[in-house]
Amino acid sequence: MCGIIGYAGHRPAVPLIVEGLRRLEYRGYDSAGVATVQNKEIELVRAAGKLAALDEKLARKNVTNSTFGVGHTRWATHGVPVERNAHPHLDHEKNIAMIHNGIIENYQEIKTELLAKGYEFRSDTDSEVLCNLIAEGRKHNPNMLESISWALNQVEGAYAIAVVSIDEPGTVYAARVASPMVMGVGTGENFVASDIPAFLPYTREVVFIEDGELVKITSSSWEVFNVETLEPVEKEIKTINWDVQAAQKGGYKHFMIKEIFEQPKVISDCLAGRVDQAKNEIVLPEVEGMEPPERLHIIACGTSYHAGLWGKYLIEQWAKIPVEVEIASEFRYRDPLLAKGGVALAISQSGETADTLAGIKLAKEKGLSIIGLCNVVGSSVARESDYVMYTQAGPEISVASTKAMCSQLTALMLLALYWGKRKGVIDATTYSRAAQDMRSIPSILETALPAMRSRAQELSREYSEANSFFFLGRGLYFPLALEGALKLKEISYIHAEGYASGEMKHGPIALIDPKFPTFAMALNDELFPKVKSNLVEVQARGGEIIALTNPGVDLDVEHRWSLPEVWGPLNTFIALPALQLFAYETADYLGKDVDQPRNLAKSVTVE
Ligand code: M6R
Repeated sequence: MCGIIGYAGHRPAVPLIVEGLRRLEYRGYDSAGVATVQNKEIELVRAAGKLAALDEKLARKNVTNSTFGVGHTRWATHGVPVERNAHPHLDHEKNIAMIHNGIIENYQEIKTELLAKGYEFRSDTDSEVLCNLIAEGRKHNPNMLESISWALNQVEGAYAIAVVSIDEPGTVYAARVASPMVMGVGTGENFVASDIPAFLPYTREVVFIEDGELVKITSSSWEVFNVETLEPVEKEIKTINWDVQAAQKGGYKHFMIKEIFEQPKVISDCLAGRVDQAKNEIVLPEVEGMEPPERLHIIACGTSYHAGLWGKYLIEQWAKIPVEVEIASEFRYRDPLLAKGGVALAISQSGETADTLAGIKLAKEKGLSIIGLCNVVGSSVARESDYVMYTQAGPEISVASTKAMCSQLTALMLLALYWGKRKGVIDATTYSRAAQDMRSIPSILETALPAMRSRAQELSREYSEANSFFFLGRGLYFPLALEGALKLKEISYIHAEGYASGEMKHGPIALIDPKFPTFAMALNDELFPKVKSNLVEVQARGGEIIALTNPGVDLDVEHRWSLPEVWGPLNTFIALPALQLFAYETADYLGKDVDQPRNLAKSVTVE
C-alpha cells in the first residue's frame, strides 16, 4: 500500500515525481504529496483525495525547480485520509521531510518519549513519529545517514521510507523492511520507488533493495548500506525489459479494459519458451531441479487465491498431487500441519502481499520448499522463494486484477501438465491435446473479445440496477464464479456472491426473487446437466439468469451468452474475460472509478 518515489538528478523534481506518482497511484489514492528543498527550506505540497487534487494545488503554487525530492500517494492505515495525515511528513522543526509505506508497530511508545522531550505532532500517523525520531537522531549523530540508521534501529514493523533534509541538499535516503523498494539507476539521475513503472520512462537499470538496507542517492552516485552496521552492501544492477507503453493506457479509457484485451498476448507470453512446439512438450526450467511434490499447499489472496482453487482441480486430476489451497491470511495464523519436505506454492501478482509473504515465512520455518508464482520480477515473493516461475503478464496497473489471473491459470495448467508427465500419470491424449490446443487460445480469444465486449455492454445496461447477484459454477467454473463475484463487487459496488451451483439448495436459494439475478457458467462439459438442473431450480423461484454457455447447448434462460467452444478446461480462458468484461462494463456504465475503486489498493502490503 502507498506509492513512494524519491528523485535526485538534473531535472525539475516536482513534475517528474508527480508523473511517477501517477504510475504508482494504483497503490493507494486517498491523498498525495511532494517535498523538495530550496534555499535551506522544505517546500511541501499535499492534498487529500486523488492525485488530481495535488495537481490542482501545485498549479496554484509557484514551486521551485529543485532537482531532488520525494513524493507519496497514500492508502491510509493510521489516521483518516485528510491533508494533515498526507505524506510527506515533516519533523517538528521542519528540517526533514519523510515519506513512508508500511506500519511502525511501536510508534506509540516512541511518540510518548518524543512528547516528553517536547516534540509536537501535527498528524495522527505513525510515519510522523518516525520522521521526528530521525530528527532526534540528528542531535546525536554527525550526518543524516547515521541519524536514519539510529532511528530505524529502534523501530519495529514494516517500512519503505525516503527522506530529504535541509542539511544535505541533493541527497535522498531510502530504506526498507517488509515493504517494497527498488532503485533506478540513470545517467546523471537516480531514483527510489515502490515499483519500477514510477521511473520506467527514464531508466530500465534497476537495483532491488532488500530488507535491512539503507540507500543514499545523489544525481551522480548511489550507495547501499546495511541499516544496522552501515557497512556498504554490494548490489547488482539488473536490466528489466518492461516497455513504457505497457505501463500506459494506450488509447483505452481505463487500464482495466486495456488489460482485459491484453490477455491473448499474456497467454502467448506465458507459454513462450515453455512449450517445445516440435515435441509438443512442456518444458519448465524453473522447476526442473525439483521432484514433483508429494503434496502441495497453495497460499494466496483475492484473485490469486481463486487462481489457486482452479489450479487444484487440474493438478490433482492430471498430476495426481493432493493440493490444499488456503487464503494466506488464514494459513499464517492457523498453525497448519505441514510435513517437512513438502512444497508450498505462493501465488501473487505483485509479489508483495503481506499475508502471502507471511505464509511463505511460516511454510519455510516448517521445512517446506517454496515455489513463487508471481508477476513482478524481483518482488519479495520471488526473492523469498526457492523456485520462481514468472507469469509474464507485464505491468498490471488496474486495481482489479484481470490479466494476472489469466497468466496464473496458464502457468498452473503448465505445472499440472509438466508434473503429470514427469510422474507418468497423465493420460497421453490429454497431455498432447492440452499442449497443442493451448497455443491456439490467444488467437481464438483475440477474435472473440470485441463481440464479447458488446454482449457485456448490452447485459450491463439491463442489469445495472440490480442490488445483488449470484455467480454460479461447478468444477473448474466454481473458482471462476468466485472471481466473477469479486470483480463485480470490487469495481461496481454491487453486492455479489459466488457459489458452487450445487450449494444453492443448501440455503442461498432463499434469496432468489425476480430482482436477484444469477450469472451462471453453463458451459458444455460433463457437469453441464447438473448445472442445468440447478438453474431450473433458480428459475422456479422467479430468478432471472444470464448464462455463459456454448453454441448448441440446450438451455432455456433469459440471457444466453454464447462463447466459442474450445477443448476441455481451456474454455476457462474464454469464460474468464467474459466475467471481467461484465464487471467492467457495469462499473463503467454506473460511472464508477474503474481503475481505482474506493477503499482498495493494488498491493496489500499490510495485514
Ligand atoms: O498481488 P497479489 O496477487 O498477491 O494480490 C492479491 C489480492 O490482493 C488481489 O488479487 C486483489 O484481490 C485484487 N483486488 C483482485 O482484483
